[in-house]
Amino acid sequence: MANPRRNSYSTSQSSDSSSFQFQTQSSSSLVLLKKPHAFPFLVLLLLLLAMAMAMAWVSLRLQYSSSGVRRQQLGQDGLGDEDSKANLVRFKSGSPSPIVKDNRGWLLDPVSLALHSGVKGGAVSCLRVHLGEIRHGGMRGNHRHYACNETFVIWGARTKFRLENKMVDRGYAEVTVEEDEVVVAASPSGTAHALVNVDASRSTFFLGCQDGMVNTNNSNTDFNVWKDL
Ligand SMILES: *[C@@H]1O[C@H](CO)[C@@H](O)[C@H](O)[C@H]1NC(C)=O
Ligand SMILES: *[C@@H]1O[C@H](CO)[C@@H](O)[C@H](O)[C@H]1NC(C)=O
Repeated sequence: MANPRRNSYSTSQSSDSSSFQFQTQSSSSLVLLKKPHAFPFLVLLLLLLAMAMAMAWVSLRLQYSSSGVRRQQLGQDGLGDEDSKANLVRFKSGSPSPIVKDNRGWLLDPVSLALHSGVKGGAVSCLRVHLGEIRHGGMRGNHRHYACNETFVIWGARTKFRLENKMVDRGYAEVTVEEDEVVVAASPSGTAHALVNVDASRSTFFLGCQDGMVNTNNSNTDFNVWKDL
C-alpha cells in the first residue's frame, strides 16, 4: 500500500507550483490581449485554463483516494476490499446485526455463514474443532497447513488477522478485528494464517474448524511463517 502521507504531500506540492505558473502566465497574457493579434494568446490562455482544471481534478482525486486509505487504516469504513483480501466477513456483535436474531445475543454457523458470505476456501465440514483463547499480547497460528482448509470465528478483543495472499504485494493481507465485532474467516489449505491479540486488556476467543487431519508428526504444516510477528 502506498504511503498516503507522502502521496498527498507530493500532490499538494505539484498543484501549488502549477497554479503559480498559471498566475504568471495569465497576467502576461492579459497584457498581450490588448495587442491586435491576441487570438492565438486567447487560445493559449484557454488551453492553460483547461490544463489547470485537469490538474486540480487529478489532485482532488488523489486526495480523495488517500483519505480513503486513511479511513481503512483507522478501521472506520471502506473495509470491504481489505476484508475480501483477508478472506473474511465481519459482523457487529450487538444489534442490529445479521447474526443477532433476538436480545440473547449472536449465534452463527461458521461453515454456512462463510459459504453464504463469499468467504472462499474454508472447511465445508468440521472434522477437527479447536476453541480457544488468546490473551493480551499473545499469538496463535503463524503456520501453514497443507492437509486441511480451516474456517475461523474470531471475537472478544482487538485482534490482528493475517492471511497469506499472493495477490497482495507483500504476500499477505492483514486486518484488525475490533472488540465489538465477530469475524468469520477462512484459510484454504496451503495458506498461512496468524491471529494476534492487539487489545489493551481483553482476551480474543476463536474457533477453528478443520476439514482434514493435521498429522501429529507435523509433516504437513509449516511453522513460524512470518518473522515479524
Ligand atoms: C479443501 O478444499 C478444496 C476445495 O476448495 C478441496 O478440494 C479439498 O478436498 C479440501 N480439503 C483438503 C483437506 O484439502
Ligand atoms: C506423518 O504421519 C503420517 C500419517 O499420519 C504418515 O503417513 C507420514 O509418513 C508421517 N511422516 C513422517 C515424516 O513421519
